[in-house]
Amino acid sequence: MSAGETKGIILAGQQANFGEDLRRRVLFLRSMISHPREVGAVWPTSRWAVRDLLDMGDLPRARTVVEFGIGTGVYTSEILKRLQPDATFLAFEIDPDLASAAATRLEDPRLRVINDSAENVENYLEGAKADFIVSSVPFTSLPVDVRHSLLDAARRALAPDGRMLVLQYSTTVLPDLQRLFPSIKRRLSPVNIPPAFLFACSASGADMQETPEPSTVAKRPYVFVPLALGALLLLRRLIRRRR
Ligand SMILES: C[S@@+](CC[C@H](N)C(=O)[O-])C[C@H]1O[C@@H](n2cnc3c(N)ncnc32)[C@H](O)[C@@H]1O
Repeated sequence: MSAGETKGIILAGQQANFGEDLRRRVLFLRSMISHPREVGAVWPTSRWAVRDLLDMGDLPRARTVVEFGIGTGVYTSEILKRLQPDATFLAFEIDPDLASAAATRLEDPRLRVINDSAENVENYLEGAKADFIVSSVPFTSLPVDVRHSLLDAARRALAPDGRMLVLQYSTTVLPDLQRLFPSIKRRLSPVNIPPAFLFACSASGADMQETPEPSTVAKRPYVFVPLALGALLLLRRLIRRRR
């Protein structure tokens, strides 16, 4: 096969990937237009923010993992890459179109895609407990009773040394998390639109001794976001002056 032919195949593959990616994004946007409070975002999470969040847990040691809100499956596929071959992975998505698209694309013997509210997670665990729950559902825009019901279900479903990894676009959910989890580690993931707040919530708190005092941590993202925006504006001004 000549170099030109190989290049053609690679390009065709890239075009197919681009087309599939676009189709998933359009499906996500349609879901957002139909159910804005449940979807709560215009774009799927960036791959950098997905990795940042998953790096806050040791997923390869997990026997059972649960995801709340698959969307286009950006977390689902990255979680599958990190899991052991005999792990169990339950992934919840309330939108039937998004659930069915993810189930078709990510067929894997470890994965069970469930088109139901993640509030019902315990009904599907068959007595097992989750080592990790990964959630990107928009807790802040959901009705308060649904938010509480989701978080309470997550807390009950976690193993004693389990962790819930949460991505949000604000820190509004923090008091609810603090009500349920003795220890919460926080990070900001800047390469996402908008920058994302990440929380690793420990059911026991024993493995999270390094967590700084909440009063110190609480201030950091608020300082960091205006600083990053300021730096961007300054950079834009400098570039314009040079032209
Ligand atoms: C912000 S989107 C995130 C999607 C994807 N994980 C990502 O990060 O790109 C939130 C997703 O959670 C789903 N969702 C909202 N409430 C849910 C619930 N109670 N149970 C399961 N999924 C839910 C929405 O349909 C939507 O797909």
